[in-house]
Amino acid sequence: MFETERDVLDWYERQPRAITKEFVNDIPWREIRNHPLNSAFVPVLFYMRDVEFFTDMYYKELLRTSTGKDPVIRKFMDRWSVEEMQHAELLNRFLNEAGIPTSEKWQAEAQAKIPSRYSRYAYLLYLAVKPFGRYVQGTHMAWGAINEITTLQGYRRLSQLSGHPVLRQLLTGIMQEESIHSNFYWSIARLKLSQAKLSRNLARFSIEKFWAPVGQGPKPIQETNYVMSTLFRGTTGLDFFMRNVANRIEQLPGFAGCSALTERVRPIVQA
Ligand SMILES: [Fe+2]
Ligand SMILES: [Fe+2]
Repeated sequence: MFETERDVLDWYERQPRAITKEFVNDIPWREIRNHPLNSAFVPVLFYMRDVEFFTDMYYKELLRTSTGKDPVIRKFMDRWSVEEMQHAELLNRFLNEAGIPTSEKWQAEAQAKIPSRYSRYAYLLYLAVKPFGRYVQGTHMAWGAINEITTLQGYRRLSQLSGHPVLRQLLTGIMQEESIHSNFYWSIARLKLSQAKLSRNLARFSIEKFWAPVGQGPKPIQETNYVMSTLFRGTTGLDFFMRNVANRIEQLPGFAGCSALTERVRPIVQA
């Protein structure tokens, strides 16, 4: 466990990138088509590609807040946003190599599909939390931890369920980076939340009231639900989610006994 936020950043900066030039070159891209890809996972890959790409938008939203002005978090975010963009590109390339064409302007198209009410909502939320100043940082970090951990575990499920060897190889690298992001967010959230009761109350309140699986908002609810139910379907999937996502969040200060994540996901995956 880290004692200071500086220690978390130092640790992060010591982590080499999993996705290097060599890693990308070693992927047998040409072999992708030789292995069957269950069509149920295609919309999942599109969704994940777009949500990775939306990091750029979250990054800009966060920069406006006190969280984005925190020097430790800012340093992390600059590298994080680059890594997520690359994940998006690699998933797009995987789709193409699997014989699924994507538009050359897929980024602009994904962006254009974001409902304008989402941008208004994001702005209102920004105004609503502004008076809380630095106390809101714990909320941002806890929220980010949930998103990163859900993404990581979603890739883990996708890797297992798809049984596609090249996808597995690609996801191994992406997951290593997601795991580093998860640890950064979770560790900073733990430190921020341990500092003040107001931070803990604000974080728990916001997450219990407003949390939805990553991507919902910019993406329509039906797409988010499709991805969640494909990856975490049934009792086994829900169990996996509880063990690997919800339990990890419950260990954050102020989150003991928080069942909001599981309760939000349960009706989606058991429908
Ligand atoms: Fe990512
Ligand atoms: Fe990530």
